[in-house]
Amino acid sequence: MIDLMTDSRFQGLEPFESRIWLSSPTMHGDEQRWVDDAIQMNWVSTVGRNIDEIERQIAEYVGCRYAVALSAGTAALHLATKLAGERLFGQAKPNAGTLQGRKVFCSDVTFDASINPVAYEDGEAVFIDTERDTWNMDPEALRKAFEIYPDTKLIVLAHLYGTPGKMEEIRKIAKDHGALIIEDAAESLGAKYRLNGQWVETGTLGDYNCISFNGNKIITGSAGGMFLTDSREDADKVRKWSTQSREAAPWYQHEEIGYNYRISNIVAGIIRGQIPYLEEHIAQKKAIYERYKEGLKDLPLTMNPYDENNSEPNFWLSCCLIDEDAMAPMVRGEQDYLYKSESGKSSPQEILEALAAFKAEGRPVWKPMHMQPIYRTHPFITEEGNGRGKTNAYIKGSGIDVGADLFRRGLCLPSDNKMTEEQQDRIIEIIHRCFL
Ligand SMILES: Cc1ncc(COP(=O)(O)O)c(C=O)c1O
Repeated sequence: MIDLMTDSRFQGLEPFESRIWLSSPTMHGDEQRWVDDAIQMNWVSTVGRNIDEIERQIAEYVGCRYAVALSAGTAALHLATKLAGERLFGQAKPNAGTLQGRKVFCSDVTFDASINPVAYEDGEAVFIDTERDTWNMDPEALRKAFEIYPDTKLIVLAHLYGTPGKMEEIRKIAKDHGALIIEDAAESLGAKYRLNGQWVETGTLGDYNCISFNGNKIITGSAGGMFLTDSREDADKVRKWSTQSREAAPWYQHEEIGYNYRISNIVAGIIRGQIPYLEEHIAQKKAIYERYKEGLKDLPLTMNPYDENNSEPNFWLSCCLIDEDAMAPMVRGEQDYLYKSESGKSSPQEILEALAAFKAEGRPVWKPMHMQPIYRTHPFITEEGNGRGKTNAYIKGSGIDVGADLFRRGLCLPSDNKMTEEQQDRIIEIIHRCFL
């Protein structure tokens, strides 16, 4: 544990008075107005003007025909996965998932909510390794996956930390194999991507698209999510499923399994108050990213990269990756870790501990799904092909695993858009001291 009283590296630096968060909600006042409006009008339910408004405004902003507001991004991902499953393989019985016995190619370095819906629908996630240019799904590994499992018809892809992945290539591969794409834009609302020369928003790049308004996202409703589509039929279906699949009968009549996934009009009020500030939040997050990039440029590390010509991230989280030869020893168990300090070097856990000692919140890069205990028996595909079973007592090396490498050497830096420049400078200084 880092002790600020005895560790001479941190002498003269004061802890923050109040905690600096990784990414916390930033309220502006309009949120209260729309919440109050809902209460005064007694639209305290899963119908109301706030819901209608946020659906209209987000569809307009993102550039899609329909947006269906739901209780969470996870709910949107679940219903998107179910829609894809039904389209590809037909309707399932009420007690079975639509993906029974089917493989689905999934982003590996992402939050588990992206891909858990594949399991909800009884499918098997096959994890696709990550590329180094944007830290997203590697098109090369995806090509390999189609060589190994050519019958696969569905891809679930997330844009990590608000940085668009290589969508042009991935959409082409999907098309060549007749596969559908579920786009998880939970972390990337407002990020732009140049697709075939045209700038478009993330959240319009898949066959089914999802966003999140979770408390840590670029704008928030405390919770909430949306399903985005150009298909009237899909939007209607998601609306129906999310409200317990009621039929147009005078009594409760059900032809299909339903879910209680619709958003609350109160939560929608918060989101309605946040939407006008989306661009402002993005600009603040970008300034944070640029400030870290400049302030850390003399250290042996790099920032999370993006394609400067073909994408404009929303810069939701700023991250860094320590150079291999500047990595001090660090090992992680399932729930604990050990590291050693070495002069001129550091490690993610050491930096995270130092930040925590100063009351600032960072986080390791998301642990890849193929390394998660729950998914350890699932296939993992790299540029080399099968990424499982690559270790050998008699041969050195263990094969490519970009995700594991990002997890080992990378960390997410405090990226709260309420952080002042002075506070960020102190964080930059703390990181420098870790390398002393
Ligand atoms: C990539 C990704 N997908 C899905 C989700 C789930 O969204 P929600 O928390 O709104 O259910 C999150 C974050 O929460 C996420 O970061």
